[in-house]
Amino acid sequence: MKLKAWKTAMSLAWKKTPRTTGEFDTLPEHVAIIMDGNGRWAKKHKMSVSKGHRQGTENLREIIRHTDDLGIGVLSLYAFSTENWNRSEEEVSALMQLILDFFASEIDELDEKNVRILILGDKGRLPEKQRETLIEAEDRTAGNTGLRLNIAVNYGSRAELVKATREIAVRVRNGDLKPEEIDEKTISDHLYTAGQPDVDLLIRTSGEQRLSNFLLYQNAYAEFVFPETLWPDFSVHEYDLALDAYGHRERRFGGRTR
Ligand code: FPP
Repeated sequence: MKLKAWKTAMSLAWKKTPRTTGEFDTLPEHVAIIMDGNGRWAKKHKMSVSKGHRQGTENLREIIRHTDDLGIGVLSLYAFSTENWNRSEEEVSALMQLILDFFASEIDELDEKNVRILILGDKGRLPEKQRETLIEAEDRTAGNTGLRLNIAVNYGSRAELVKATREIAVRVRNGDLKPEEIDEKTISDHLYTAGQPDVDLLIRTSGEQRLSNFLLYQNAYAEFVFPETLWPDFSVHEYDLALDAYGHRERRFGGRTR
């Protein structure tokens, strides 16, 4: 079958699969989502890319609620990467505004639902208003014990690994740690996600199949699901399908089960 025909068939099969009941054999502990396709959605609907991003925040509330309802422990969302600064000034400022709007409208409910917010990334380069809003959200929800909601803003995985390496080097220089004591946990403990489980399921919408510098270390053994749907159209139903697909994967972590 030609690649294009195969892709169409896969996409149709994806759409036709009946809605799951919400009961899953195995649920991931940590889901990460690359919310891709806002620009293409905007183009398709003859709108500005900023409107595409705004539409992309509309379904977020339902996806977060659903994650919480299912009792999944951690949800990581890629909102703004270190590379996104290279987009036009107009698009960057639209995304920055969306961050403010998202927290203004969602923080009360998230806090009420016992959600703990953690920002992944360097908040130092963000405009003051955004930085304060993000710190406020983290501080306000720091004592919450429910869903851990990681929002990656000005995040890049390589930069995160550089930061971790520098912190570890300082500990070694100060004599707090011997080089031979450095193990995988030492590195995990110096990532933004310290203390959290690794990613089990990574979803990237819009058909693109790459990590784009998102949680490289944490995704080492993640299962990947790549729905063709553009992010603004990604529904709870399609989220269920991705979770269901995850439940049918055989995870071996490099070992052998048969
Ligand atoms: C990728 O689509 C998406 C982004 C760069 C931004 C994602 C941000 C949001 C959905 C809103 C902000 C979220 C929070 C939590 C406040 P793209 O523009 O690269 O799409 P394209 O590949 O079709 O152009």
